[in-house]
Amino acid sequence: MAQTVFAPWEDPEEKPLIEFRNVTKRFGEFVAIDDLSLAIYSKEFFALLGPSGCGKTTMMRMLAGFEDPSEGAILLDGRDISGVPPNRRAVNMMFQSYALFPHLSVWDNIAFGLKREGQPKDKIAARVDEMLRLTRLNKFATRKPHQISGGQRQRVALARSLAKAPKLLLLDEPLGALDRKLREETQFELMDIQEKTGTTFVIVTHDQEEAMTVASRVAVMDEGRIVQVATPSVIYEAPISVYVADFIGDVNLVRGTARARPETPSVAAEAVAGPTAPEPAAAAAVAPNLAAPEQTASERSAAEAALPVDPRAPQPNALGEWLHDKVLFPILGRRKPQQKLLPAPSPQERATSDRPQTAPPRDAAQAKPAPAHADDPDALAGGGIVIDWAEGQPPVIATNGDAALDGKPVVLALRPEKVSIGKAALDMPNTLRGKVIDIAYLGNISTYHVQLADGSMIKAQTANTRRLSRRDITWEDEVWVGFSATAGVVLEE
Ligand SMILES: Nc1ncnc2c1ncn2[C@@H]1O[C@H](COP(=O)(O)OP(=O)(O)O)[C@@H](O)[C@H]1O
Ligand SMILES: [Mg+2]
Repeated sequence: MAQTVFAPWEDPEEKPLIEFRNVTKRFGEFVAIDDLSLAIYSKEFFALLGPSGCGKTTMMRMLAGFEDPSEGAILLDGRDISGVPPNRRAVNMMFQSYALFPHLSVWDNIAFGLKREGQPKDKIAARVDEMLRLTRLNKFATRKPHQISGGQRQRVALARSLAKAPKLLLLDEPLGALDRKLREETQFELMDIQEKTGTTFVIVTHDQEEAMTVASRVAVMDEGRIVQVATPSVIYEAPISVYVADFIGDVNLVRGTARARPETPSVAAEAVAGPTAPEPAAAAAVAPNLAAPEQTASERSAAEAALPVDPRAPQPNALGEWLHDKVLFPILGRRKPQQKLLPAPSPQERATSDRPQTAPPRDAAQAKPAPAHADDPDALAGGGIVIDWAEGQPPVIATNGDAALDGKPVVLALRPEKVSIGKAALDMPNTLRGKVIDIAYLGNISTYHVQLADGSMIKAQTANTRRLSRRDITWEDEVWVGFSATAGVVLEE
C-alpha cells in the first residue's frame, strides 16, 4: 500500500492540516485535556487510542467545534479555528449512533447536508450517486434505515459525512455497533474509502487492533495527555513506556535491575557474572560453546541452559534414566534433562524447520524469512545491559539496553511472538527454564504460559504452521523459553 512511503510527519517542510498547540480543556475543576500538542497531516488516517475517559471524544468535539479549548489553540490549515462554528469548519463528525433520519431514504439521508447548503439539484444527484458507489449502496438507495443491516447503516452514515467533501472527517468509535467479523471487513472498507477520497480521517477507538489495522499513525492517550505518537509498528515494536507496551497487544514485562555490559563481547561475557550468577554459568549463557566439561552443579545447570542439544542423539529409556540418576551419575555426570521428550524429527520435518518455532511478525509488510535468532549477527554483540531479574538465575542480556541505566530498576518488554519455546535448551543468548502452566490455542497460534524459577510467568508463542507439531508441548511440561539479546525493549519503570 502507498503507506510504506507516506510519512509527511517526517518531512520538516510539510505543514500539518491540524495542530493542537498546548491545548487544555477543563470542565469546571476537572482537566480533561492537559496541555496537549499534536500535529496531524493531510491524508493521514490518524487514530486516537486510549482507555475510556482519557479525553478522546473531547478532542474530537473541539476539532468539530462543539467545544472550545480552555487554553491553547487549535489550527486547521494554519489558521486558528477557535470561534468558528461547526458548520463553517471543513470538518465533519460521524457519530457512533450514526444519527440517520429514520423517515428519509438512504438517498435522501446522504443528500441532506447538500440540500441544506442549497446546491443545485443535478450537482446534488451526481454527488449522492458518487457516494452510493463509493460505499457500495447503489442497490439500497430507496430503502429506509430500518430496512438495511447495521453494516449498511454504518456506510450510509459514512457516505453522508463524506458528501460535503470535508477536509477532515472525525469518526468517534465508528464501528462500535458492528459485530467482530463485520467490524474487520468495515475496517478495510474504511481504509479503501479514505485512500480513494484522500480525506484526512481521525478515528477514535478503544480497540488497539482496530487502531493498528487502519491507522497511518496512532496516538496513545492517558488521562488527557498523549503518551506516544508513532506508526503502528513503532508503537508495537518500540513503545516508549510500560503503559504503551502494556496497552498495545500482548507483552511480557520482565522486571529487574540493570547492569551495564562492556562493549567487547569477551569482556561482556565475564561482566555478565554478578552477585546472582556464577561466572562460568554466565559465560556459557553468552557463548554456549565455552562451557567447560568440569563444572559444579550450579554451573552445570546454567551451562545446560545454553548448550544446544542434538535431538537425534540416542536417548535412554525410563529404566536407563533411573539407573543413570541413581547409580551411574558419579561416573557419567548428571543426565541432561528433557532430551527423552523430544522425538527425532522426520526428514520432512527437518526440511520444513530446524529452528525453534516462532510466530511471524504481525505486520505483513515486515514479513521476513523465519527469524534466525541463532545466527543473529548482533545476538552476542557487546555493550547494552544485563538485567538481574531473579536470584540464582542467569541475568537476561539486552544488548539494545542503554548502559546508562546501570543500577536502575528496568522493565524488559518482550512480545510473546519473540519468545521461542522448546523441550530442550535453545541455542539463544537468553534461555530460561520453566514449566507450562497454560496453553491458549488459537488455531493459527498457540500461546504458552510458562512459569519461571521465581514464580513469574512468561508467554511464548508459536505459529502452528504444521497441522501436527512435532514438539507437542503440553501442560506441566518442563520447557525452555528463549529469546535474542535484542528481542525486548528496555524501559525505565
Ligand atoms: N461536558 C462535560 N462535563 C464534564 N465532564 C466531562 C464533559 N465531557 C467529558 N467530561 C469528562 O472528561 C473526561 C474525558 O471524556 P471523553 O473525552 O468523553 O473520554 P473518552 O472519549 O476518551 O472516553 C471524562 O472523565 C469525562 O467524564
Ligand atoms: Mg468517547
